Amino acid sequence: MCGIVAAVAERNIVPVLIEGLRKLEYRGYDSAGVALLNPTLTRLRSVGRVAELASLAEAQVAHHGIAHTRWATHGVPSERNAHPHVSEGLAVVHNGIIENYAELKAELTAAGYVFTSDTDTEVVAHLIQHTQKTNNDLFDAVFATTQRLIGAYAIAVIQEWDDRIVVARQGAPLLLGVGEEGRYAASDASALLQVTRQMIYLEEGDVAELKRGSVRIVDRNHVAVERALHESSLSADAVELGEYAHYMQKEIFEQPQALAATLEMIGGAQSFSPNLFGTDAPELLAGAKSVLILACGTSFHAGLVARYWIEQLAGIPCSVEIASEYRYRVSVPHPDTLVVAISQSGETADTLASVKHAKAQGMMRTLALCNVPESAIVRECALRFLTRAGPEIGVASTKAFTTQLAALFLLAATLAKQQGHLSASDEAEHLTALRHLPVAVQNVLALEDDIRAWAQRFSDKHHALFLGRGHHFPIALEGALKLKEISYIHAEAYAAGELKHGPLALVDEDMPVVSIAPNDALLEKLKSNLKEVAARGGELYVFADADSHVDEEPGVHVLRLPEHYGLLSPVLHVVPLQLLSYHVALVKGTDVDKPRNLAKSVTVE
Ligand code: G6P
Repeated sequence: MCGIVAAVAERNIVPVLIEGLRKLEYRGYDSAGVALLNPTLTRLRSVGRVAELASLAEAQVAHHGIAHTRWATHGVPSERNAHPHVSEGLAVVHNGIIENYAELKAELTAAGYVFTSDTDTEVVAHLIQHTQKTNNDLFDAVFATTQRLIGAYAIAVIQEWDDRIVVARQGAPLLLGVGEEGRYAASDASALLQVTRQMIYLEEGDVAELKRGSVRIVDRNHVAVERALHESSLSADAVELGEYAHYMQKEIFEQPQALAATLEMIGGAQSFSPNLFGTDAPELLAGAKSVLILACGTSFHAGLVARYWIEQLAGIPCSVEIASEYRYRVSVPHPDTLVVAISQSGETADTLASVKHAKAQGMMRTLALCNVPESAIVRECALRFLTRAGPEIGVASTKAFTTQLAALFLLAATLAKQQGHLSASDEAEHLTALRHLPVAVQNVLALEDDIRAWAQRFSDKHHALFLGRGHHFPIALEGALKLKEISYIHAEAYAAGELKHGPLALVDEDMPVVSIAPNDALLEKLKSNLKEVAARGGELYVFADADSHVDEEPGVHVLRLPEHYGLLSPVLHVVPLQLLSYHVALVKGTDVDKPRNLAKSVTVE
């Protein structure tokens, strides 16, 4: 979703802004723009890729500017709607949604301001300008403006003849960079690694003023505050493509090391310890009588797998809710519930709001399971577990998902132990299986050549069905999501037992049916479901285990994963589905890392 980069420095900051936008491209966008001060304002905007903006800005030199990639919310993707938006000599970039923009727009129109875009952001530019008429200083005017905004925003503002950048955040990410030659701001650290590793994370409601050599921050009450300086541990290489053609491919193949890094803390452990989840975890987890998992997208699917694990291992009830539904529905709160928010980015607006909603209902045992330290969801929760997948750039989530699963299994086993449900032999067995997981995933990646051949047969299809049972049903959901996200083939997933209650009507020779068939207790049931498909002329693509008794026959294609992996089998079985969608997308020639209409980090509702 929208990306912001801002810089004020001794050096020419135009290349810094453009490189920063390149690093934020993964968030998803449809247009881009910059505003530069010299000391008067130059604004350049373009629809499409940052590369186009880069050629427009090539000849520019400036020491002070703001830049933006826009993911359309209010108004179609077009140059007139692209940020920055201006009001006289003032320019603003914004990430988020201003919910009361219509009311503010009416007020500003009545005051004589003329709007040249359909965006909510232009309201912010005019409102700051208007506020300055009574509140002369830019910083004060931005602060006063934020008091009138309802919704989510991260903004950066510059004005002609003023040597500052003023930024503010509420409900959308923004961090500051402290460099040798200047001060910077961006939506995430990857955009600023080119100039500094020293980062300051702004808190909700903060407004900050950046000059070449200083930063001043006030909190939501206009009290001057110091925010801690963090050294980013993100490696610049981690966001480089290296030898890979796409980030998604790189991230699929990074899964063994991402899992190894995430599971490093249990390397020499003899038991599952609640301390893995934070200092207060022994007490907060021990008192949990049920678990409520909140998440969106792929993270929601990780939660669905975890429900099977938590109920089976720990014997406590677990529900999993789509965050955007939970936050608005009337539900029955239980104070002894452990609320688990799963989010790769830690910034997903609905997931964050759902945690706040749970807390407002008295559920204070909150655990963030995130991939980004210091993200909003991590800061909102009492407990945290950080997956160590490294930056995930491809919109279609892969390594974040498998590392979430590893972390959720740790949680399930830890809860089981606390409930007295885990025998010593099971504990040792689970620890061994977790330690071997990176190698097991590595072995599955070796199936790529076979999957590439299958992908050819999917590329001319318009629909596909994915079937799974038990804790592989969420893996079917995830496989279907991956395929539709990046290849634009309509795909649906069903619990295989549901097939005859509707989707079987769709099955014919044009409907590939992908089936996850591990060698578990449900295999025989699943085989009956597969016969139902074969009998209707459906083409079956079965991911079985080495020892599953599923045979190749006309219309039934079988690929075997190297070994059956028991409860952790979903971590292995999702990998070939990731590879399948990746290779189908390659054949179809879609934009794998930046699929149309989608964003990586969904910071608006
Ligand atoms: C977007 C991304 C998905 C992701 C979902 C939830 O839709 O494209 O890949 O699963 O958001 O994101 P989160 O960062 O909260 O896991």
